[in-house]
Amino acid sequence: MTDITEAQMRATEDIIGRSEVDDLEAIMSVVNEDWDSVSHSVHSDYDTVFTWDYEKGQRPKLDKLYEKAKKAQWNAQTDLPWETEVDQEQLVVANAVANGGFNEGIDVSGTSLATWGDKEWIQFGVESQNWTLSQFMHGEQGALVCTAKIVESVPWMDAKYYASTQVMDEARHVEVFNKYLDEKLSGHYPINAHLRMLLDDIIADSRWDMTYLGMQIMVEGLALAAFGFMHQMTTEPLLKQMLRYVMSDESRHVAFGVLSLQEYYSQLSASELRERQEFAFEAAVRMRDRFLQQEVWERMGVKGNEVAPLLMQVPERKMFQVMLFSKIVPNLKKLGLLDAADGWLRERFTELGAIAFEDWVDTGEEYESLQSTPEGDQVAS
Ligand SMILES: [Fe+2]
Ligand SMILES: [Fe+2]
Repeated sequence: MTDITEAQMRATEDIIGRSEVDDLEAIMSVVNEDWDSVSHSVHSDYDTVFTWDYEKGQRPKLDKLYEKAKKAQWNAQTDLPWETEVDQEQLVVANAVANGGFNEGIDVSGTSLATWGDKEWIQFGVESQNWTLSQFMHGEQGALVCTAKIVESVPWMDAKYYASTQVMDEARHVEVFNKYLDEKLSGHYPINAHLRMLLDDIIADSRWDMTYLGMQIMVEGLALAAFGFMHQMTTEPLLKQMLRYVMSDESRHVAFGVLSLQEYYSQLSASELRERQEFAFEAAVRMRDRFLQQEVWERMGVKGNEVAPLLMQVPERKMFQVMLFSKIVPNLKKLGLLDAADGWLRERFTELGAIAFEDWVDTGEEYESLQSTPEGDQVAS
């Protein structure tokens, strides 16, 4: 039985702004029109919490994570082979050869893509790299500010300690993606509108656990899967190594979310859990929406609306979109969010085609196997 009333349940339209999750026209109509701005402010009303209980190790799993993080620091400027030459066009060709062709298997006949030759597809590949790494960088800044907020708002000392190490990690991630974009690629993209909406929602929420849920569980859970995918696909050695280090940090961050929220969510009521489920669903949809790369198509002179339905027909792309949830779904299950409130979130992830991941290993268990240092050693536990 649940204590949720009809009135408390929000319809899909209230949560994500459209009634059909796959309404491509609605997705493509959300664009960032603020391309030239140099800053963006989000208002947030929340309590900064002091604790007078300084005893270290009251939450042994968080304490262990903190000790690991101290040993796993690396230097973005000196621990990576920045002397590596990157020829972006050659890289696009090499990646295409390694991964099965330029046009992702899209049937382009009768569309404006039918006139594209190798030159256009290579240019598209170059823009796509610029876009992807730019979005990673913006997401990293989101993680930086969210985690700084957690340092202030979480009531437990072990969590404040751990979060402070994550703030340092995220500064390094912003630094490393920005350096790669500046020195190895050929242009930045502004933040994607769907990603910005999500980061705004996470930051604007006053409840400390929502920062964790939005950032550590959803955004970073997806990032861990996306970095892993790119790490596997890329033939560029500097990027590969960079992603390996970043993933090592990210796995700790996601574990931090799982280990912290597990305790907190065990005390919440069904209606409070339902709010968390809706927030997780909104985040999942926003993150999926951004992968249509609408800004890249526009820059290539192609209408996003024309190309979106073509993209959705490509089996590999569908599989990629589902794979993005491979870390998130087991973690939500571990937190009890898949099955709380009569399994509302289980139904949503079933509709998104990602429920099969529910029994994959969760990051609270897995993170130790993903740790590495610049010396290539496993970090001792
Ligand atoms: Fe990060
Ligand atoms: Fe992170």
